[in-house]
Amino acid sequence: MCGIVGYIGDEEATPVLINALKKLEYRGYDSAGIAVLGDEGLVVRKAKGALKFLEQKIAAEIIRGTMGIGHTRWATHGEPSDQNSHPHTNVSGQIAVVHNGIIENHAKLKAWLTERGVAFRSETDTEVIAHLIDFYYSGNLLDAVREALTRLEGSYALGVICQTNTDEIIAVRKDSPLVIGAGEGENIIASDVPALLEYTRNVYYLDDREIAVLKRGSVEFYDEEGRPVQKELCRVEWDVAAAEKGGYEHFMLKEIHEQPTALTDTLRARIKTYATKSINLEEIGFNESWAKADRVIITACGTAWHAGIVGKYAFEHFARIPVDVDIASEFRYRDPIFNPGDIFIIISQSGETADTLAAMRMAKKSGARIIAITNVVGSTLAREADLVMYTWAGPEIAVASTKAFTTQLMCVYLIALKFGALRGCISETELAYYIDALEELPAQAERILSHKEDIQRFAAGNFNKTKAFFMGRLFDYAISLESALKLKEISYTHSEAFAAGELKHGPIALVDESTLVVAICTQRALFEKMESNIKEVKARGASIIVITYDDEHFFDAVADEVFRIPCTPDPLTPILSVIPCQLYAYYCAVQRGNDPDKPRNLAKSVTVE
Ligand code: G6P
Repeated sequence: MCGIVGYIGDEEATPVLINALKKLEYRGYDSAGIAVLGDEGLVVRKAKGALKFLEQKIAAEIIRGTMGIGHTRWATHGEPSDQNSHPHTNVSGQIAVVHNGIIENHAKLKAWLTERGVAFRSETDTEVIAHLIDFYYSGNLLDAVREALTRLEGSYALGVICQTNTDEIIAVRKDSPLVIGAGEGENIIASDVPALLEYTRNVYYLDDREIAVLKRGSVEFYDEEGRPVQKELCRVEWDVAAAEKGGYEHFMLKEIHEQPTALTDTLRARIKTYATKSINLEEIGFNESWAKADRVIITACGTAWHAGIVGKYAFEHFARIPVDVDIASEFRYRDPIFNPGDIFIIISQSGETADTLAAMRMAKKSGARIIAITNVVGSTLAREADLVMYTWAGPEIAVASTKAFTTQLMCVYLIALKFGALRGCISETELAYYIDALEELPAQAERILSHKEDIQRFAAGNFNKTKAFFMGRLFDYAISLESALKLKEISYTHSEAFAAGELKHGPIALVDESTLVVAICTQRALFEKMESNIKEVKARGASIIVITYDDEHFFDAVADEVFRIPCTPDPLTPILSVIPCQLYAYYCAVQRGNDPDKPRNLAKSVTVE
């Protein structure tokens, strides 16, 4: 996730900016840059790769000045490169901007600015902001930023400086984090508290659409209309390690909590809301010919493979198209049959998993067309696929995948619904209904998270169970697989997943009093079937948790504990039903004294076989 910093005071800005950026390195980044305003005007330095490369550039040509802004970039629009790194400037180079977030209408704004003679120098969504501010600037930077904001759709935290405003940094946020540190004769902005702690523990937390004007001796706040706002100064008591995790004990818990935002980011830019709601994948190069495919093959590893299983059910349900889902390491070594007209969807958080890349290359060699779903811009998968749909989850640091998974699901639904609409399998009204439901998911995910203490309490009573089985049917089966994987990965509990209908064909032999069974029950047409399966394991002494809807009491009599999730159409429940399971795995791991961020024997990215 991009990191923003800014400094205004009496010290040299460059070392402060670099030092603050180093404190944001844990967020993940692929390039960095700073803009400093001093006697030589506004000087920008940027470099792809680690901060040390930026430091080398600065060491070769020192920049002096007592105010500036800096950025670590996690690429979303345009590959990691010097050119695409922030800060971005207007044409004259007098206004510099750093940005964290996604400007959803950047293409439209770019076209509008290009018509007015602006020549763009990067592929980023951010560059439009610098040119827009320039367009509205006539001496008052705050007014120009406010005008520019009226044109922006999406999420942003911004730091802005201008060569002719030598005592002013403008900072603003909407749906992306930003904190203001208030020092003595100096003020500082940052995406996150760790970057500030060395300078001050007195902070203001900006709310959405609030604008801060930082001068050397003061900080003032305004609303979007330019009216002054009074803010409360808060004192940060966290140490640096806790601050990096946003106050959470582990990155995994932080990332679980980032899911509502990640889902919103992944969804919002892809929805068109003109007359009726529709899905916009044209910007990634999708056209009708893709939806004419005879077969879809989804290939992935680990958690991403589970997203593929949800994809199979979603494609078959929404788009009536046959789908095969394959584990990449199996696919590459068997003798798969390729048909003309096949398309492949390759899912990989990192875009670098060796088996997944090998499967993708085999498919490509056969002449098949490839859609990649990945979280990493410029990854090998993104570069080699025909179409790329990014999950805008931001970097995932914990080894066990959480927010990358739910955003993969979001992408899978968007593609399946788009196929369904183009193939005439779902009507405009049905499409609008499902889009509405997708748009509700982030807030619904937030509601589940607000009850996390219930799951924590349950984990405290059950973490030492030696066996945990997850079972479900259809979409719930896919989430059973993912939930069992999560629990085994980080708590080291022996956990397995079963399609509930398979129980009688073997797994039930394992069930006894020491078994915990998590029954995921969200497929309404199959409630009776699930009830029978639950009774079968209960009769053998297992403890039963049921995951079902808020308003559903069908399972109350058979369950020992019910975790409730908000109502959504049955095919979309995976994005919600997996969250209590992620939390359960997390709290079990913590209870067992494991580090959930770094489970034994596992790697985040498996780039070798
Ligand atoms: C490793 C990770 C998993 C991940 C899998 C596939 O096993 O620990 O969390 O699901 O690789 O990774 P990818 O980057 O291709 O999604």
